Amino acid sequence: MVGDYVGSKHCFILSNGTVTLYAALIAVGVGPGDEVIVPDYTMIATANAVLLAGAKPVFVDVSADSLCLDLNLAEAAVTSKTKAIMLVSVNGRAPDIDSAIELCKKNNLHLIEDAAQSLGARWQGKHLGTFGEIGSFSFSAPKIITTGQGGALVTDDDELAEKIRQIRDFGRRQSGVDYHLSVGYNFKFTDLQAVIGIEQMKKLEWRVKRKKEMFVLYHELLTDVEEVTFLPTTDEVPPWFIDVLVPDPARLREYMKQHEIGSRPFYPVIHSQPAYGWPGAYPNAEFAAQHGLWLPSSSFLTDEQIGKVCGMIREFFKH
Ligand SMILES: Cc1ncc(COP(=O)(O)O)c(C=O)c1O
Repeated sequence: MVGDYVGSKHCFILSNGTVTLYAALIAVGVGPGDEVIVPDYTMIATANAVLLAGAKPVFVDVSADSLCLDLNLAEAAVTSKTKAIMLVSVNGRAPDIDSAIELCKKNNLHLIEDAAQSLGARWQGKHLGTFGEIGSFSFSAPKIITTGQGGALVTDDDELAEKIRQIRDFGRRQSGVDYHLSVGYNFKFTDLQAVIGIEQMKKLEWRVKRKKEMFVLYHELLTDVEEVTFLPTTDEVPPWFIDVLVPDPARLREYMKQHEIGSRPFYPVIHSQPAYGWPGAYPNAEFAAQHGLWLPSSSFLTDEQIGKVCGMIREFFKH
């Protein structure tokens, strides 16, 4: 279902959108001694999967508009050890994919798309996750559709598909037959989750449409509030979360909380998280992390509820 929806030849459903990234990396041959370019602004799983594969994530700043990898800086970060690029489409937004493909071809790099946040999002008519050699999706609880936990890998490459199939199922030649062609793991999904997934897929198109409408409505209702900045987007993108930049997100968050409205700050930059503690300066990623706030984004919100949230934000900024 997911493969047909995104338009990919092969699709594998795995246990979550972190092991999908690990499986994608080892399928293309990333391992110890290799470097992989990762944006400094993304959900931390993107970087952790690189470490899990035994390689080194090399952080690169993002572009201020899309919050996706800055491709010029990515090119400058390529060394003789660089093996792959993790191209994260943040909240369904994409960088210039043609340039990313060109960059990878020129430097002989594998292109893995972390499209965990991009189910339903397209770039120039083609679904995100289908441009790279392998694309990865997540079905964790807050995603546009969910199976509680879950992830998908898509590829058009027959050899990579066979590798992924084996990595997911103990390296078996065939499901249920204990003859192992390679070292693989148990990254499978359960039938119980699949039942939920099939039902969720039926709701996807409606949610894609609703997320787009919600973004337009939020934008309309807050457009004259100069303290609130919306990142550019296109009508091919159903924003997973309604994301804005504000001068002091912690104060707005507190105000909204007092009025029983939830919100969530953007991800902190990865390099300086306690888990990494690496040096480096990534000004655009840091600016987004310091100023970003996700507003209420459930596709079940009514226009009236969105109006109330925006009214509260306008009041906070005294509009
Ligand atoms: C960009 C990105 N990559 C990877 C993941 C990890 O997915 P999962 O939570 O399914 O392991 C997420 C989850 O939010 C994500 O947003």
